[in-house]
Amino acid sequence: MRNITITKYIKYIGVDDDDLDLFENQYIVPNGISYNSYIIIDDKIAIMDTVDERKKSEWLANLKRELNGKIPDYLIISHMEPDHSACIKDLIDMYSNIKLVGNSKTFEIFDQFFHIDIEDKKIIVKENTELNLGHHILQFIMAPMLHWPEVMMTYEKNNHVLFTADGFGKFGTLNTNEDWTCEARRYYFGIVGKYGMQVQMLLNKIKNLNIEFICPLHGPILKDNLNQYLEKYDIWSKYEPETKGVFIAYASIHGNTYKAVQELEKMLKDNGEQNIVTSDLCREDWAENIEDAFRYDRIVLAASSYNSSVFTPMYNFLHGLLERNYQNRKVGLIENGTWAPSANRTMQEILSQMKNIQICENKVTIKSSLDDYSKEQLLKLAKEIAQQ
Ligand code: FEO
Repeated sequence: MRNITITKYIKYIGVDDDDLDLFENQYIVPNGISYNSYIIIDDKIAIMDTVDERKKSEWLANLKRELNGKIPDYLIISHMEPDHSACIKDLIDMYSNIKLVGNSKTFEIFDQFFHIDIEDKKIIVKENTELNLGHHILQFIMAPMLHWPEVMMTYEKNNHVLFTADGFGKFGTLNTNEDWTCEARRYYFGIVGKYGMQVQMLLNKIKNLNIEFICPLHGPILKDNLNQYLEKYDIWSKYEPETKGVFIAYASIHGNTYKAVQELEKMLKDNGEQNIVTSDLCREDWAENIEDAFRYDRIVLAASSYNSSVFTPMYNFLHGLLERNYQNRKVGLIENGTWAPSANRTMQEILSQMKNIQICENKVTIKSSLDDYSKEQLLKLAKEIAQQ
């Protein structure tokens, strides 16, 4: 049981999930994840979202503890994804008069998941609709595609609390003691990265709000120096690089492409590059690779040729970037091929579908293993891409 008080009357009733192998069945979560939920105790009582089915009984215990025998009036549904909506039916079964607060999209999606009649329970809200609980006033702010179309945020006007749905969330339970940025960035680019334009629209809507607390549906409640988080979201959603450096992503079959990468690292250092991060796409967490690609201002892609295309881990990586609107970066290309090198051609085809990608003139082709000629090409690429 976790006792977190945001204000005297706004309480945390969420749960940690520390033995989940894959969040959304695809993201590793070495430090688990939290499903956040909140309750506002006032003349009228509002519950802010439910939690994942996996943690239903723990959440219900938290809810009952804070209700202390009272009956909730409203469930505010920020997001219908099952990690937040799975317990809605249980809530309706327990509190038959509870009203469900969402927008029209919320209830379309609700019907697809639940197939129950809630006509007498629906309160349909729109942009800036207010709900008065007594001493708390909730104002609803639509946040479509953060990260589903029905998502909305809720601003509590008297205590300046912004409930942000998935926005500003991160992987890791609330017990995890780690830097916010790294796992928030991996979460952001994995889950919301495609929707930079919609995040920009949301940031614009909230820019004049006086915010003292950001209460997301995953990860810690944010309360000090909130600009640091808003600034990160601004950079990320504009697809601007956050850090100067070269990210080298490689996919090597027998190790010769990797040897070229090692050689390139040395050459980059010799040419004054201070910040080089290298990742083996065959082994490293795919979402961490996506995150790093967005983080740095330059990237080198080094891959073996495969089936007249590019080695599968690189193909998947590039499609992961394409899906997430990767753009505005300088890219170096290194291919390896024993009889018909094809990796650079395929990588270029995928990159050509992205916005504002500047491909280095000095592309490198290795025939099986580095020789003097391909080393020369590599040096030219290092000089072209190193920070001068
Ligand atoms: Fe945490 Fe989009 O669900």
